[in-house]
Amino acid sequence: MDALGRDDMLDYFTRAESFRSNTAAGQRHSGRTVASLFYEPSTRTRLSFESAALRLGAQTLGFSDPAASSAAKGETLIDTIRTVERYADLIVLRHPAEGAARLAAQVASVPIVNAGDGGHEHPTQTLFDLYTIHRQRGSLDGLTLGLTGDLKYGRTVHSLALAAAAFGVTLIFIAPEPLQVPAHLRGRLEGMAIVRTAAAVDEVISELDALYVTRVQTERMDPAEAAALGTPRSLGPADLRKAKDDLLVLHPLPRVTEIDPMVDEDPRAWYFEQLADGVVMRMAILDALLAGATPLPLGAGAKLPPPEDPPWRESPDASGVTCANPKCVTRLERGVMMRTISHGGARSCAYCDWCVE
Ligand code: NCD
Repeated sequence: MDALGRDDMLDYFTRAESFRSNTAAGQRHSGRTVASLFYEPSTRTRLSFESAALRLGAQTLGFSDPAASSAAKGETLIDTIRTVERYADLIVLRHPAEGAARLAAQVASVPIVNAGDGGHEHPTQTLFDLYTIHRQRGSLDGLTLGLTGDLKYGRTVHSLALAAAAFGVTLIFIAPEPLQVPAHLRGRLEGMAIVRTAAAVDEVISELDALYVTRVQTERMDPAEAAALGTPRSLGPADLRKAKDDLLVLHPLPRVTEIDPMVDEDPRAWYFEQLADGVVMRMAILDALLAGATPLPLGAGAKLPPPEDPPWRESPDASGVTCANPKCVTRLERGVMMRTISHGGARSCAYCDWCVE
């Protein structure tokens, strides 16, 4: 989310809106190719990106199961990216390692879209989550957003909190302590947004303009951590009695047990309705990036220019530092050097944002 400021996001909302009625969009990118490399399961993100690419006239290719790719033979992410950039004009990447998209972007000559990097971030989901709220409420200014479910491992939550903070949205993190937002994210939100916490939805529901419900990410926990949590309480029709009439209940989906299907009939339940916003937003994202990307030469013997800022070149502030996050791409990908950046004075890993000092 760091790459986008408030004005950039508003610009994306306008671009997305323009695709709702743009019947000429189907010719815009004919002859271009979009690759989707999904190393983790997905229904909506992959299919909506592919739908968006096809609606823009582009072709799609890729894999949805890394077991059917050379990752199963031990190929590194970097080598896979250096291959697929020869086949496609843009790569949509979902990967379990935190910081994988940033690493891929450092080596690729084509644009990389982060479609989820482990438990770190999911910025394109955020763009359309905010777009949906903006569209339904007319503005984001002064709103109060409750986020509940898995705030620790939920990448959609991390990106949404950062982006909503840029609009001055009041954030209420609603979760028991073990599922609260990571310390490094709390640190980054300091001074950016009014942040409160609550242990349960009923404590705050009457104040909320939007409630963002998420699934507990058991696949990112060790079995003991998951077992200690028990089954989270599900949001039911009774919980909405005290809510505002124009509350928006959102969920990135898939839903497991955290929202009772009875809630789906409530006019405030907007998680299926918003899916079309995901398609037009992803059309806007692909359109903007494809328009700025020069197709790579396919001529025999063409050698791509080396990456401008290769991840294995040692930067002065990172020598000898190892990221403390075992799920960071610098720990999982062979031969990648860790780097640090400054978030408001605190040093963090440039890939996964964990604090390092
Ligand atoms: C989310 C994800 O993959 O992070 N899903 C999505 O992209 N719509 C949420 C989740 O899997 O719980």
